[in-house]
Amino acid sequence: MTKFLIFCLGALAASCTGSPSFPDTALDYCAAQVRRTLAELPADSTLTPRNIAPDSTRWHLNRVCKEEWTAGFWPGVLWYDYEYTGDTTVRNAARRYTEALGFLSEIPAYDHDLGFLVYCSYGNAYRLTRDERYREVILRTADTLATLFNPRVGTILSWPREIPALGGHNTIMDNMINLEMLFWAAENGGDPRLAEIARSHADRTMQYNFREDGSSYHVAVYDPASGAHLRSCTHQGYADSSMWARGQAWGIYGFTMCYRFTHDPRYLEFARKITDLYLNRLPEDGIPYWDFDDPAIPSAPRDASAAAVVASALLELSTCLGNEGEAYRTAAEKMLRELDRNYRGGTRCPALLVHSTGHHPAGSEIDYAIIYADYYYYEALLRLRRIQRGEPLF
Ligand code: GLY
Repeated sequence: MTKFLIFCLGALAASCTGSPSFPDTALDYCAAQVRRTLAELPADSTLTPRNIAPDSTRWHLNRVCKEEWTAGFWPGVLWYDYEYTGDTTVRNAARRYTEALGFLSEIPAYDHDLGFLVYCSYGNAYRLTRDERYREVILRTADTLATLFNPRVGTILSWPREIPALGGHNTIMDNMINLEMLFWAAENGGDPRLAEIARSHADRTMQYNFREDGSSYHVAVYDPASGAHLRSCTHQGYADSSMWARGQAWGIYGFTMCYRFTHDPRYLEFARKITDLYLNRLPEDGIPYWDFDDPAIPSAPRDASAAAVVASALLELSTCLGNEGEAYRTAAEKMLRELDRNYRGGTRCPALLVHSTGHHPAGSEIDYAIIYADYYYYEALLRLRRIQRGEPLF
């Protein structure tokens, strides 16, 4: 706890000496970068930005398809930009990239990423436009995601394709984020059972994707017939026993979000527990190495995406806790200021942030700009702005 207090005092000092107009300065930067990306994208195409290599200045673009789990983030960035700037050109582009994902509501589930794909795009689209067609896509996709739920296990099957390699029904930490679409659908005209599925999934994840100290396993594997837990391990982390930074970030974000929908104090307490561990183990600047237990630290790559996810989550967490939430808000602001100062794509490339790590064990996207870092960064800056203005977050 001492390290956490020192961290927060440092953050408080930083926030007193920084630019008075933060986060607006950072949001203005984001808006300018989004326009650079839009200018370099092929017209009338829905190829979406995925990443920028450290030696590149341009986005690597991917085709929208059911296997491209990141395709919802670019439309999500555009919706956040439209929310900030009110620019109808950006809104029109956001509509175009969002609607390119509509097919996902009409085909069987490929895997759990449907929430990332459809809630980041259509969720923001409906929030900002109230276009009924968007709500219908979300409800249909939530029903599709629910087809991956195994009631004997009590969780959604995250990766059907990995059943042979992992040896059973697998549930990954990232899957926590996709519960948001289920909770939302249950409250907005969808099947009320979707919320029960989300709760069951969160409870089992709490039980089997975490160690006693609050650090996370990426993957839990179950016997699909009996529902018995078989083992917990990693996929994208350094080791089965390590704390993969983005996995912990998904957990912090996910359990905070579960509390928003359920008001179940167990989720709030758990979110605090896993957050405090994360904050206590952070390096001084508040940006994690890709895995907290990589022996190469301090030479290991960082993960700006995990920092952005956590900053956004902490801003929500801070609003759930009254005065006790102040330390989390301060910590989030410190992270965002550090990302703004030292992690900008800047003049080199049009990404909002650089220095994220995708799949280190596979040697993939190490020290890259990655689109989901930009999505959660824009979201976090907008959340901070709302908090500063005394506006509700949701
Ligand atoms: N959901 C995959 C990742 O976080 O890399």
